[in-house]
Amino acid sequence: MTVTKAAGKLTPVLSNTWDQPNGYTLEAYRSRGGYQALAKALTMDPAEITNQIKASGLRGRGGAGFPTGLKWAFLPPDDGKARYLVVNADESEPGTCKDIPTMMGNPHVLIEGIAITSRAIRCEHAFIYLRGEVVHVYRRLLAAVREAREAGLIGQGLGPNGDFNLEITVHAGAGAYICGEETALLDSLEGRRGHPRLKPPFPAVAGLYARPTVVNNVESIASVPGIIGNGVEWFDAMGTEKSKGHGLFSVSGHVARPGQFEAPFGITMRELIEMAGGIRPGHQLKFWTPGGSSTPIFTEEELDIPLDYDSVGQAGSMLGTRALQVFDETTSVVRVITRWTEFYQHESCGKCTPCREGTYWLKQIMLRLEAGQGKPGDVDLLVDVASNIAGKSFCALGDAAATPILSGIKRFRQEFEDCITMPAREMFPYEASAVFAESEGTR
Ligand SMILES: Cc1cc2nc3c(=O)[nH]c(=O)nc-3n(C[C@H](O)[C@H](O)[C@H](O)COP(=O)(O)O)c2cc1C
Ligand code: SF4
Repeated sequence: MTVTKAAGKLTPVLSNTWDQPNGYTLEAYRSRGGYQALAKALTMDPAEITNQIKASGLRGRGGAGFPTGLKWAFLPPDDGKARYLVVNADESEPGTCKDIPTMMGNPHVLIEGIAITSRAIRCEHAFIYLRGEVVHVYRRLLAAVREAREAGLIGQGLGPNGDFNLEITVHAGAGAYICGEETALLDSLEGRRGHPRLKPPFPAVAGLYARPTVVNNVESIASVPGIIGNGVEWFDAMGTEKSKGHGLFSVSGHVARPGQFEAPFGITMRELIEMAGGIRPGHQLKFWTPGGSSTPIFTEEELDIPLDYDSVGQAGSMLGTRALQVFDETTSVVRVITRWTEFYQHESCGKCTPCREGTYWLKQIMLRLEAGQGKPGDVDLLVDVASNIAGKSFCALGDAAATPILSGIKRFRQEFEDCITMPAREMFPYEASAVFAESEGTR
């Protein structure tokens, strides 16, 4: 194996055992110190746990990067009635693929994180809202929760004072991207069709069953045991000043070895591409996404930008879910953005007009451009429609749909203009950008 300079930058914490046989079992997790952080947390005052997570600088790993400890602190004082923790495991954004392997490879780190968080916010019933299609992950989580319950790690009357009570429900959703939006998720969990709720009230005040609720991403909660177990300084030693710690960077697309790279925030795309074996042989980078399909695209110019929330923001995009999709020079930017637009149109929940109607119009225009059957003025029309969705929709799905179109035109306007008369498949044949040959099972 060639060890690259950048490889020394990896910080495998959540992913350190993914390749070990049976590494996902309770026995294996405990053999490497698992659940010791929970034992420690059960001797701590709940407020002290929240303070430590605040001090660590952990920011939500679900996309927006909101400080996790601060979110917990927003809950009103305990009134003795129910309050909930809901783990957002709906992971559906094109390119995003970090939570599913985390839950498959290391489900107990999530369960331990849930138990510690529940202790911190005084919750006795936590939920994991999982994307329903991933049945293998659902089964793994059910088995892990059962193992934890049978081992007396969760349940009733636990802890040194017998005052720790926790039930965990794993809920499989029906597979809608909008159910990853935290309030639509809560509607869905309550048994209704997933539609975003008007905020305020925020979930911290009136969330699940109108009770105070913390909604956090899988990776956010799975990062909690490390911080409580190893201390704030340990976490602080990784990352940048305002983006602390380790995170999963998912590199996909036209690199030699796509995969998950758990690294400190602030690593660069150049380093990650190097660790992924470089751009596939004989090709050059054309564009990439720093945080999934909903984040403005970058090109070679941004390869050395530190991948932390602030630096990526200042460079005009968003770190999002660190879904780093790489596209080489064989790729039609119009075709890629058409696929994403179809996705957002399909996933629009229909609650508000700009997104419901606008994503449909965007899809129609993108499809005719991809086919080389555009109309004069189509590129300006795309900008107009997308600009009337972005910032004018009820939830961030509308922004997500508009963003790739606006950023694609900003970077590659001529390619869009060319598509008015020339089909994308003629300028960029499918075979040239396919990762596998057609005979191997893809188109
Ligand atoms: C359309 C849409 C889909 C989303 N999907 C997810 C998701 O699958 N997982 C997730 O953690 N957050 C998702 N989010 C963000 C959540 O609303 C929320 O911010 C997040 O779960 C908070 O967790 P964190 O603070 O730990 O990052 C989505 C947001 C939107 C608007
Ligand atoms: S922006 Fe789209 S997904 Fe969000 S509420 Fe409006 S229609 Fe639904």
